[in-house]
Amino acid sequence: MAEGDAVRVITLDNPPVNALSFAYCKELLAAIEAAESDSATRAVVIAGANGIFSAGADVNDFAQEPPADAITVRDVIGAVERSEKTYVAAIDGNCLGGGLELALACDYRGASGRSRLGLPEIRLGLIPGAGGTQRLPRLIGARAALELMLKGSSVSAERAVELGILDEITPAPVLEAAVEFARRVADSPTAETPRKRRLSAREAEIGPGVPKIALPYVAAQAHKMLPPEERGGLAAHRLVDAVEAAMELPFALGVAREARLFEELARSKPSLALRHVFFAERELAKIPDIAGTGRSDATARHDIVSAGVVGAGTMGSGIAIAFAQCGIPVTVVDSNDDAVDKARQTVMGMFMYQVQKGKLTQEEAWRRAQAIVFTDDWRELAAADVIVEAVFEDLDVKRDVYAKLDGIAKPSAILATNTSTLDIDRIAEATKRPQRVLGLHFFVPANIMPLLEIVRGAQTSPEAIAFAFGAGKTLRKKAVLSGNAFGFIGNRMILDYLREAMALAEDGNSAARIDGVMRDFGFPMGPFAMSDLSGLDVGLHIARARGDEGKGRTDVLRRLVDMGRLGQKSMAGFFRYDKAVGKGREAIADPVVDEIFADAARSAGIPARHADDAEIRERLLYALINRGAYLLEDGVALRPGDMDIVYIYGYGFPPHHGGPMWYADEVGVDKVYGRIREFEAQFGPQWKPSALLRGVAEDGGTLGAADARKALSHA
Ligand code: 3HC
Repeated sequence: MAEGDAVRVITLDNPPVNALSFAYCKELLAAIEAAESDSATRAVVIAGANGIFSAGADVNDFAQEPPADAITVRDVIGAVERSEKTYVAAIDGNCLGGGLELALACDYRGASGRSRLGLPEIRLGLIPGAGGTQRLPRLIGARAALELMLKGSSVSAERAVELGILDEITPAPVLEAAVEFARRVADSPTAETPRKRRLSAREAEIGPGVPKIALPYVAAQAHKMLPPEERGGLAAHRLVDAVEAAMELPFALGVAREARLFEELARSKPSLALRHVFFAERELAKIPDIAGTGRSDATARHDIVSAGVVGAGTMGSGIAIAFAQCGIPVTVVDSNDDAVDKARQTVMGMFMYQVQKGKLTQEEAWRRAQAIVFTDDWRELAAADVIVEAVFEDLDVKRDVYAKLDGIAKPSAILATNTSTLDIDRIAEATKRPQRVLGLHFFVPANIMPLLEIVRGAQTSPEAIAFAFGAGKTLRKKAVLSGNAFGFIGNRMILDYLREAMALAEDGNSAARIDGVMRDFGFPMGPFAMSDLSGLDVGLHIARARGDEGKGRTDVLRRLVDMGRLGQKSMAGFFRYDKAVGKGREAIADPVVDEIFADAARSAGIPARHADDAEIRERLLYALINRGAYLLEDGVALRPGDMDIVYIYGYGFPPHHGGPMWYADEVGVDKVYGRIREFEAQFGPQWKPSALLRGVAEDGGTLGAADARKALSHA
């Protein structure tokens, strides 16, 4: 189907995801112009190779100002828009961002049942910038379009038909059906299937039964529901503006408005940060010295047929649910009947909750619950491909478990510990297969939290690490590699953050104010509410495990634990909780705690000292950054981006600030370093800056991996 054919096929083919880069758009535009100048061609079908229609514009292209002669997806779409020929999009696979915008510029859209469609630009801190904000409202109504674009998630082909984005689900093979259809329309158009169906020629409506006069009200309502611009809401507010333009302005002016807003956002700090997060996530599994990690390597696939869990406590049952909800049968071993009864209830409760929420059918919930088998017979773990141990956090207990597992698990099985404080190597020593022992550090609740730290011991084999990344993918977790050091990446950094929070509270700054400052920065909760959630008894246990290093300036934590204030679970910790307020989860300031801090400070001879909001923010964030730099220096973390992902997915760091290490670059490493030096002089050696940070600051560089490595050689 080339020159001379009535229907031409243009196949998007730019592996791996047919991204519409400037260079590729140039080729595409040439193909469209060739079709346009061929008088025999009456219709064009656009399809995609590589199992995907298109992932949209190439995100790498936004990094710099486009060259004056750059051909963008807008130019390609402009050519389709101007054409008098019939354009049909034949979608099979993902059709996202600029890819969907191209499809929207076509006259007809058909897709295979497996396809997914969406405009995810908001997740990159952007808005659709190639006509999407103007065409989609004209196709499905402004309200539905706004909802879809604000969420940024893709929808199934079936849902896209319901919404009116797709004309039909096309039976396979999609391309043939589309060509046939295009030929029919070009040869014999009807009133229902005219040759041209330009969305630009339509008027946009708000939604069924909503008069256009309500637009200002609807837009004001939309703005009201969004987070403030400076707290992650910038792109969302601009999106509402763009959709308003689709309602109010002629198409050409609306598109121009959209383009201006897009360009402004492409240069905004939140978008730069979110694009960093996008690429950092895709780097995670690329481990330089390990074949079988990374995307393109075929050996990265490790099918887990069955899994085992040792310990039916909170963590163990959460891990079991995590496997079961990904379709993997799990055997949970525990000899404590009470623990097993409780775990059974947790599992059933969890799946039933999902049924209530409409996320699972009754049958599916039942099937998943059945996939978890509880037993006290360790031999039932013999077939498991991976066994995760989640028993009491005590080295001797764990070593006993491993010695036992060693005699039962099949030779190829991976033995993973869920410890958060113990030395993986000491655990691995208890087996004859230390190369197959590693850490899989899940976060509570394990079936919900998206983060997984994979901890590499001194003897862990590359194959075992590659397997663990495969497992992470199967479990749909963001898996990050960490070295075997106390607290790994996430908890090690949080200890410094919490140290500063405690120090500020000991100085007389209230826990409620400190938490408020961090919420204003964008965290969903501050350090004290977070401690209450994870349990003050847990915090105290970790502090004691650190020996002298874990000793604070006061004994506030011990005092609170002695009072039975263990956090949210006991309705009191640094804050108090009330069942009638926010279902018992809302932190309520408690003057008793202020008094305990004041008393402990008096006993320790700590004078009161007011810190302003900026200082609170800087001390907490720069403590994370400094520790992060040490972890890079020591090789515990591979890349700054890995730590950013840990913080965004494990600790609620606001993604529009890109993670702590990205934030350091955003502020300027030299400035951060300067403040850390001041803190060192004022507060003591706990603030000694990392050599790597000093090197980057002195070079005037950024913590981006390459610069950081270079800086290290300077240090
Ligand atoms: N631009 C540049 N590179 C992209 C890309 C894009 N839009 N989408 C994916 N890639 C790259 C990834 O970085 C990765 O590269 P690597 O192999 O070197 O690490 C490779 O393609 C494969 O990506 P994934 O590992 O994510 O592959 P999956 O198969 O798991 O997922 C996907 C595929 C669902 C398409 C997913 O990549 C995705 O969601 N991509 C982003 C989609 C998106 O945000 N589109 C909007 C772009 S902005 C836009 O279109 C602006 C327009 O309005 C003007």
